[in-house]
Amino acid sequence: MSPTEKEIINNTRDYVKRSLLNAEAGHDWFHIERVYKNSLLIASIEPCNLFVVSLAALLHDIADSKFHKGDETVGPKIANEFLTTQQVDSETLNQVVKIIENISFKGGHTVKKHHSIELDIVQDADRLDAMGAIGISRAFHYGGYKNRLLYDPAIKPNVSMSKEQYKKSTTPTINHFYEKLLLLKGLMNTETGKKLATKRHDFMLDFLNQFFAEWSGEV
Ligand code: ADP
Ligand code: NI
Repeated sequence: MSPTEKEIINNTRDYVKRSLLNAEAGHDWFHIERVYKNSLLIASIEPCNLFVVSLAALLHDIADSKFHKGDETVGPKIANEFLTTQQVDSETLNQVVKIIENISFKGGHTVKKHHSIELDIVQDADRLDAMGAIGISRAFHYGGYKNRLLYDPAIKPNVSMSKEQYKKSTTPTINHFYEKLLLLKGLMNTETGKKLATKRHDFMLDFLNQFFAEWSGEV
């Protein structure tokens, strides 16, 4: 007998948790759990296929290309193989794999090759986790991992840098706010995502004001 949708979701959760046991803190199981919860929150308001949203949220970072020499086909392939073991119907499987292929930010320059409300929802949930207090924490964690400066007044943000140039650069972490994090609010797909993004966006602006005030010795 094929597993039920509920069983498949539980199996997927267990599988992802096991796979990400040694993942770095920006892309660990807790990131997945937050994205999953935010996806369900948005999905409770926006009509969609909840099974597809759940599986895509759980599997969206199963193999981040950053950690596979930039190979963006590894994640979709692993997800495909896992969902096949769960006897997921081909329609659902294809939708989930397409979401994983298209979810990444990529500087917002790449045109999405797949369109669905389910992709919009999981992408919004993933972007929300790069904003607000969690987003700030993740950015400085990533900057520390890359041994980047917190800030350097002599290095101005460069919003037109390609992802490749960016990876090789030694851009301070504060610049990442201007190059990506403050752009996310304007990229939200769903009305619910937009509403949730506003508070997190404003929190980042408050943080930056305080940061610069402290930097210049004003407070
Ligand atoms: P996603 O996995 O959501 O597509 P990324 O892999 O690009 O996004 O980034 C994961 C996390 O690491 C995000 O919180 C992001 O802001 C942060 N991050 C990525 N690149 C940088 C950077 N150059 N400086 C600081 N933080 C970064
Ligand atoms: Ni993610």
